[in-house]
Amino acid sequence: MTLDLDCPPTGNHQNPNKLTSSTPPAITPRPIIIDTDPGQDDALAILAAIAAPELKILGITAVAGNVPLDLTANNALKICELAGRPDIPVFAGRDRPLRRDLITAEQVHGTTGIDGADLPEPTTSLQPQNAVDWITEQLTKANEQEITICPVGPMSNIATVLEAYPTLSSKIREIVCMGGGFFVGGNTTPTAEFNVLVDPEAAQIVLHSGAPVTMLPLDVTHKALMAHHWISKVRTLGTHCGIAAANMLEFYERFDMEKYGTSGGPLHDPNVIAYLLHPEMYKGRYCNVEIETISPLTTGMTVVDWWGVTDRPVNCYYITEVDADGFYNLLLELLARLP
Ligand code: RIB
Ligand code: CA
Repeated sequence: MTLDLDCPPTGNHQNPNKLTSSTPPAITPRPIIIDTDPGQDDALAILAAIAAPELKILGITAVAGNVPLDLTANNALKICELAGRPDIPVFAGRDRPLRRDLITAEQVHGTTGIDGADLPEPTTSLQPQNAVDWITEQLTKANEQEITICPVGPMSNIATVLEAYPTLSSKIREIVCMGGGFFVGGNTTPTAEFNVLVDPEAAQIVLHSGAPVTMLPLDVTHKALMAHHWISKVRTLGTHCGIAAANMLEFYERFDMEKYGTSGGPLHDPNVIAYLLHPEMYKGRYCNVEIETISPLTTGMTVVDWWGVTDRPVNCYYITEVDADGFYNLLLELLARLP
């Protein structure tokens, strides 16, 4: 039996974002929530989303991950102000995973989380409401399948909402997350990708929430590595955002280049935004994805039934291919729109 990578082998898990010839072009901005742990790559994802009129950022919710929550939340404020959008509401969420101690990644992102960029302290403040309560409120008042959630850090915030209020999954159009890794293994342990490793229970809750889940794992982000000439083009934009982005990326890429011996590093999180804007640049398969939450050896492993050898239900659109040139051309085009 040959499996068509684009069509679900079983189940009714439809990728609502998949454009077909009969799909009319979007005529109203797509409402999204970016759930994030900035993080230099998170910062590029936020900048890309801000630059895209096809997306309406309802708010940015910070979570502990790359660095502790106080820093990720403050970094989100800094990035919105860098892009000239201090109006975007930023909320602080969970300062730790659901059931585990926090793991951070200062060795990758630096002590601030966005080392490389010397951004001024924000003049705006966090919203007083906790991110979990705000997401709950947004979903409660939303229409069916209205809101797209974009987790680009550990999924602690959205999992807390879905665990407490499972029926709110019907208000979610799609959860498009950066996380996981299967064919390429892990990037933090031999088997676990960072976002899923930090909060594996959260990832498992999301995958079993009933909301349509699209996962952009290391299997796709590692196929689109930054090139120095591209970072130079970003810097040559000569704008505040271009220069700050180039500075962040030159700091950020060094860890993966040394680790993998490559000429550039992966730029994980902006793939979520690029997928929302141009899903045709990506290819994946509807399959069952489970997260290991028990084994000490493989905690946080993303177990992908790519060949459909189990009877576990399809619960994820798992992406493994990307048009790398298209991704970086799009990202440069978006960054060029910013101040
Ligand atoms: O494993 C990569 C992911 O972990 C990215 O989201 C990066 O920002 C870190 O959060
Ligand atoms: Ca991240």
